[in-house]
Amino acid sequence: MDQLQRLRDRSTRLFGHQPAGVWAAPGRVNLIGEHTDYNDGFVMPFALAEQTLVAATPVDDDRWTVHSTTIGDGETVQFGPQDLVPGMAGWQAYVAGIVWALRAAGHRVGGAELMISSTVPVGAGLSSSAALECSVLTALVDLYELPIDPLDRAILARRCENEFVGAPTGLMDQAASTLCSAGHALFFDCRSYHHQQVPLGLSDAGLELLVLDTRTPHAHVDGEYADRRRICEEAAGLLGVAALRDVADAGGALARLSDPVMRRRVRHVLTENQRVLDARAVMSDGDRTAQQRFAALAPLLDASHASMRDDFEITVPTVDLAVETARESGAIGARMTGGGFGGCIIALVPEGTGDAVADKIADAFAAAGFGAPAHFLGRPSAGARRA
Ligand code: GLA
Repeated sequence: MDQLQRLRDRSTRLFGHQPAGVWAAPGRVNLIGEHTDYNDGFVMPFALAEQTLVAATPVDDDRWTVHSTTIGDGETVQFGPQDLVPGMAGWQAYVAGIVWALRAAGHRVGGAELMISSTVPVGAGLSSSAALECSVLTALVDLYELPIDPLDRAILARRCENEFVGAPTGLMDQAASTLCSAGHALFFDCRSYHHQQVPLGLSDAGLELLVLDTRTPHAHVDGEYADRRRICEEAAGLLGVAALRDVADAGGALARLSDPVMRRRVRHVLTENQRVLDARAVMSDGDRTAQQRFAALAPLLDASHASMRDDFEITVPTVDLAVETARESGAIGARMTGGGFGGCIIALVPEGTGDAVADKIADAFAAAGFGAPAHFLGRPSAGARRA
C-alpha cells in the first residue's frame, strides 16, 4: 500500500471519518547556491519525490488536532489560538507556526484535523521542515479557500520557520517546496523573487543524481549557521551594501576586508552567486546537448564544494570523504547540499551506477571508522499540491 492510501486509512481510523483531502509538499536538494539565499543572492534547488503528506479536514471550532505517523513519538497534539505563541517546542511548532503566520498575515483560517506522514529524511539537510510547513500550509489554504499564490505561501512558511520556530534560515527551502515543477530545477532570485524553471534532462544526458546521506547529525537552529549569517551581514555593513548580493567589484571588496576569516566567508558568497548564474546559463543553453550542459555544470558543483570546504568552512570529514570518493568512483561532479556540518552530498553519476558509487562510499566510510551512510536517487519532482 502506498504512502497516500496508508495515510488516508490511518486518518479515517483516528478521526472516525474520511479526510476532506490529502495534500503533499516535497523535500529538496539544492543543485547549487549554498548560503546565498539570506545574502539576497541566487539558488537553484529541485524538489524531491520524497514528500510530506497531510490528510486534513476542517472543523467548526478554533482547534487544531495533529497526529504524525512518522515524526515525533506518535502522540496526538492539540492546540488552540491561545497556544499560538512563538517559541513553542517540538515538531508541532512547524504546524502551529503555519496557523500563526496565516493569522498574523490577516487570513481567516479555522480549525482542522491533520494527520501527517513523511518520507523526507529528518535532519539530513533535505528540508524536512519546509516540507512539513508547506504541506500543512497548502492544506489550510485549500480548505479555507485563501487567496495566496505559491510564492506568498513560501514567504509565509519562512515566516513560520524564522519567527515562530526561531531558525534564522533564508527562503530557499520553502520556495523549492512550493514553486518547483517536475523535471526541473528552480532558479530563484532571493531578492526580486524572480524565478525560472530550468529543465534538467538527467536521463537524456545518460546521468542520474545520487543523494547520499552521510548521517552526520546537523542542526540549524544552533550556532554555526547563525554565525555564518551574522558574519555575512557584518561584512555587508563594512562594505556599505545592503547585502552581499550588491557587491559589484568582487576583487575590490575582498581587498577592503582586513579580517582573513571574513574575507573567505565573503569570497564564498560572491563566487557561489556567480556559479549559480553560470549554472543557469549553461543549463538553459538550447545550443548544447543535455550531455554538454551537464558536462559544463559538473565543474561548477566541484568548485562549489571546494568553496564550502575551504572558504565557508561548513563541510565535515564525512561529507568531504563522500564527495572525494564519489568523484573517484565515476561521478562527473559532486558537492555537499544544504546548510552544512553534515547532511547529504549530491553526485552526478552515469545512469545505472548510483548504487555502485554509494557502495564505494560506504566502503570508504567503513575504512575510516564512520557509520554507514544511506542513499537514494534524486528525482526532480513537483512542488506542493493536492495529492
Ligand atoms: C538551509 C536553510 C536555507 C539555506 C541553506 C544553505 O537549508 O534553510 O535557507 O540558507 O541552509 O544554502
